[in-house]
Amino acid sequence: MTEAIIHGTDLKRFYQVGGGLLSKPATVKALNGLSFSLESGKTLAVVGESGCGKSTLARLVTMIEEPTEGSLTIKGQKADPSDKTLRSTVQIVFQNPYGSLNPRKKIGAILEEPLKINLPDDAATRRAKALDMLSKVGLRPEHYDRYPHMFSGGQRQRIAIARALMLRPKVLVLDEPVSALDLSIQAQVLNLLMDLQKEMGLAYLFISHGLSVVRHIADDVMVMYLGKPVESGPVEEVYNHPRHPYTAALLSATPIADPTRKKRRIELKGELPSPLNPPPGCPFNPRCAYATDVCRQTMPEATVVGEHSFYCYHPL
Ligand SMILES: Nc1ncnc2c1ncn2[C@@H]1O[C@H](COP(=O)(O)OP(=O)(O)O)[C@@H](O)[C@H]1O
Ligand SMILES: [Mg+2]
Repeated sequence: MTEAIIHGTDLKRFYQVGGGLLSKPATVKALNGLSFSLESGKTLAVVGESGCGKSTLARLVTMIEEPTEGSLTIKGQKADPSDKTLRSTVQIVFQNPYGSLNPRKKIGAILEEPLKINLPDDAATRRAKALDMLSKVGLRPEHYDRYPHMFSGGQRQRIAIARALMLRPKVLVLDEPVSALDLSIQAQVLNLLMDLQKEMGLAYLFISHGLSVVRHIADDVMVMYLGKPVESGPVEEVYNHPRHPYTAALLSATPIADPTRKKRRIELKGELPSPLNPPPGCPFNPRCAYATDVCRQTMPEATVVGEHSFYCYHPL
C-alpha cells in the first residue's frame, strides 16, 4: 500500500451568484461532497461533462481556492495556502496552452519565475535548472530565448508542464491538459507525462471530460456528475464493468479500440442540469433509463465492492 499524498474528505465548494438588480441571489453548488485519495506516484483521473465541477476541484487541490466545507490534506498536513512548501508540492497545468503563458516573457524567464519567488538560487543556477527542464520535456536549449508565440500548441503545453515542474512538486493537477491539442499531438504529450511521472515519481490528478484519453494514463478513475462522484475505482475495473448508468453512457459514447469488449449502447439523453437547480435524489435521474421513484427522492449511498464504489440504486 502506498500512502495517500492528497486526501479530500466531503469537499464542497459553493459560489454565490446573482443578487443584482435583475436576479435573486442563488448558490451554485459547483462541488457538492466529494472524497478521494491520490497516492504517491499514481494517477487518478477525474472525468465528467463540462460544468460538473472538475476545474473547481483543481482549484481546491492546488489551494487557489478554499473549500466551503470538507477537508483537504496534502502529505498528511491540513491544506494551508500560506505554507510555501505545501504550495510548491502541488502544481497545476491548465487546459489552454495559449492563455497560460505570459506572451511578453521569454521561455527562460517563464521557467525561472517560480525559482525566483521561492528559492535562493542565483541566476546561473536558475538558468541551469531551466535548461535541464527544457530537455526533460523534449525542448531544445535555443528555445530558452524564444517567446511563447513562436511555439505550437503542443510545445506550449510542454512549456507549461516544465514550468509546473520547476519546484520539483510531488503532485501535478492536469486540468484537461490535452483537450485543446490535435489527436496526434495529444498522444505525444500523454507519453511525455507518463515518462516524467516515472522519472520524477509524480502523482497526477488528471482531469478530462471524456474517458478515452485517460484509460492508458490512469490507475484509478473517478466519474463525476453535478459536483458529486457517481463511480470510482481502478481503471480496468470501471472500464470493463461500469456499474453506474452514467459511466456506461459515457463509455458507450467513447470510441475505444478493444474489439473484445461487448459494447452496450446506452444513449446519454438530455442536458446536464444546472448546479443552481439540481434535481432531488440521484442527480442523474432525469437522464437515466433505469430511474424509479426512489431515485427521484433520495440520493443513494455508496456501494463498495473491493476498490470499486458507485452510487446507484439500480447498478448494472
Ligand atoms: N467563480 C465562480 N462563480 C460562479 N459559478 C462558478 C464559478 N466557478 C465555477 N462555477 C460554476 O460551477 C460549475 C462547475 O464549474 P467547473 O468546475 O468549471 O466545471 P468543469 O471544469 O467540470 O467544466 C459550473 O456550473 C460553473 O458555472
Ligand atoms: Mg474545467
